[in-house]
Amino acid sequence: MVVFAHPAYAGHEQVIFARDELSDLRAIIAVHNTQRGPALGGCRMWDYATEEEALTDVLRLSEGMTYKNALAGLAFGGGKAVILGDARRDKSAALLRSFARQVQTLSGRYYTAEDVGIGPADVDTMAEASDFIVGRSGAGGSGDPSLWTAYGVFLALREAVRERLGRGDLQGITVVVQGVGNVGGKLCQYLHEAGARLWISDADANRLQAVQERTGANVVALGEEWTVAADVLAPCALGGVLNDESIPRLRVSVVCGAANNQLAEARHGRDLHERGILYAPDYLVNAGGVINVSAEVGGSYDEERVRQGVEGIADTARELFALAARRGLPTSVVVAELVQERLNATAAPTPKPNSWAAAL
Ligand code: NAI
Repeated sequence: MVVFAHPAYAGHEQVIFARDELSDLRAIIAVHNTQRGPALGGCRMWDYATEEEALTDVLRLSEGMTYKNALAGLAFGGGKAVILGDARRDKSAALLRSFARQVQTLSGRYYTAEDVGIGPADVDTMAEASDFIVGRSGAGGSGDPSLWTAYGVFLALREAVRERLGRGDLQGITVVVQGVGNVGGKLCQYLHEAGARLWISDADANRLQAVQERTGANVVALGEEWTVAADVLAPCALGGVLNDESIPRLRVSVVCGAANNQLAEARHGRDLHERGILYAPDYLVNAGGVINVSAEVGGSYDEERVRQGVEGIADTARELFALAARRGLPTSVVVAELVQERLNATAAPTPKPNSWAAAL
């Protein structure tokens, strides 16, 4: 397996391959960039077909966290971890604690949290073995991140509608939401309360029905989301959905959703722009969850500070849309420049734990 020459390795500061035979742990921790502060990003547990696939995933995700955290104005860098295995079959308390001990060896260079395959209860188990776990459910914990992610996406979506459709409210605006899980379901609630008309899809019939009953949404068949004539498409299920097949079929003015890595390739951002579709970059709009968990670091979680941070997503979105319009460039291009500016700027003061300071 290629490591240093891996196309996604560039820019990474540190990658750790962790193995523990007793608990059968196989994990990779990638620390991409700590320029703004300790790396922060969730831990994913996934049954990868190959080790190379796991490495590619963790490298791409950790780089994405550097951009997301910088854009959200957090004094954290980017990192991510993956545990190789089937979360339903292979997960055990011993495995989670073994992973957490690996996180502990980094002395605060990397903070981990939940992600696909790792839920709040798993985070609590990890916290038994490491001081650098966030997203805990108990006292001092930040609780369910998807509430904040959905709120941030909603605020950004409202800004995108204002920019592209010149509308200050969402009354009667039509939105297609692909995936009504933790984030998509809550986004639907916000949109419904704001008077939007919804079209929803989900692979899980129960979730679909629950959201439909709550919001009166119309149902779209899986794979047909791209063909609905609507104002907004909100991808909230999978990455890679904006690609050569879907983009030519889109009949919307705005794309704004929670799913990570929506553009299959960077060039697809330009394709959307050329079709007159305003794309709200995923790592800008879905930062609510990480803003929330980051507030746990230092032990002084403050919900009001989180709210202000998440509301800042709308300000950044407005700034980005205006800048992109002025320069006639795709948002996906201009957002990368904003990230670079923020990476170059001095990091805001952060409550760094003693062990992190000691490690410097
Ligand atoms: P989730 O697993 O609760 O919801 C995803 C939903 O998509 C599920 O209901 C699933 O049945 C559905 N789905 C799967 N394949 C589908 C398909 N082909 N078509 C339609 N629906 C499909 O996940 P969650 O937490 O809501 O996250 C959604 C997306 O947002 C993911 O891409 C995640 O990485 C991203 N995200 C989530 C954050 C959070 O706070 N939970 C934070 C940042 C990003």
